Amino acid sequence: MALRLLGRGRTADVYALDDAWVLRRYRDGLDARREAEVMTYVRAHGCPVPRVRPDSGLAPGELVLERLTGPTQSVALLRGELSAMDAGRELALLLRQLHAVPVRPGADGPVRHLDLHPDNVIRTARGPMVIDWCNADEGDPALDWAMSALILAEVAVEPGRAEAGAAREVLCALLAEPLAERLGERLGERLGAPAGALDEAWARRAANPTLDAAEKGRVGDAVALVRAVLQGGR
Ligand SMILES: Nc1ncnc2c1ncn2[C@@H]1O[C@H](COP(=O)(O)OP(=O)(O)O)[C@@H](O)[C@H]1O
Ligand SMILES: [Mg+2]
Repeated sequence: MALRLLGRGRTADVYALDDAWVLRRYRDGLDARREAEVMTYVRAHGCPVPRVRPDSGLAPGELVLERLTGPTQSVALLRGELSAMDAGRELALLLRQLHAVPVRPGADGPVRHLDLHPDNVIRTARGPMVIDWCNADEGDPALDWAMSALILAEVAVEPGRAEAGAAREVLCALLAEPLAERLGERLGERLGAPAGALDEAWARRAANPTLDAAEKGRVGDAVALVRAVLQGGR
């Protein structure tokens, strides 16, 4: 049976199975079982995450997920249906909601998505839903904020990139949110502190095999932009 390709990211292909379900398949055969477990856990605690169908007979790199309908944040931004300010706020709300999920016994902190950016949020009629949980782990939530900020900043510093201006505005809106929070005052410090979450995010992006050499070359500039925004500049 030929499946209809719905979407392609950097690591996975997503096919429509029917109106209700999609098949997400890693191209490199990465094991998706832990990802399924994390998604099921945070969903049970109210996070907007597609349902994972408990399937037998799937290959280790395959997941059957609830089919979502709607544009990604990126597409909504591009079409002018969503402002950069609202996109940044939405990302901040999603991060905060995720980090409020009870820490699992034995874990070092709350679940972190670590790749929460406008391509990984689908805006459905029921609200924004978070996809693409392959990098998720558990630990200090400051790293999750730092990864989102850095990924946005990477787009913002890319010469000639059409979305650069919007990405910068989304970044500013995202970082304006946690800083206004009680917990956020410390978060801003930890994000920008030497050897803090931002440096760890830098190391992770520099080691990410899905980034090409030119993209990796810009991560340092992106870190500088995040620091500038944290210090109140743009
Ligand atoms: N549950 C879903 N329902 C509908 N489309 C989806 C779903 N999950 C992913 N997609 C589509 O597939 C694309 C890639 O999925 P994603 O999980 O982000 O993979 P990658 O790790 O390769 O980025 C998304 O941008 C979206 O268009
Ligand atoms: Mg993705």
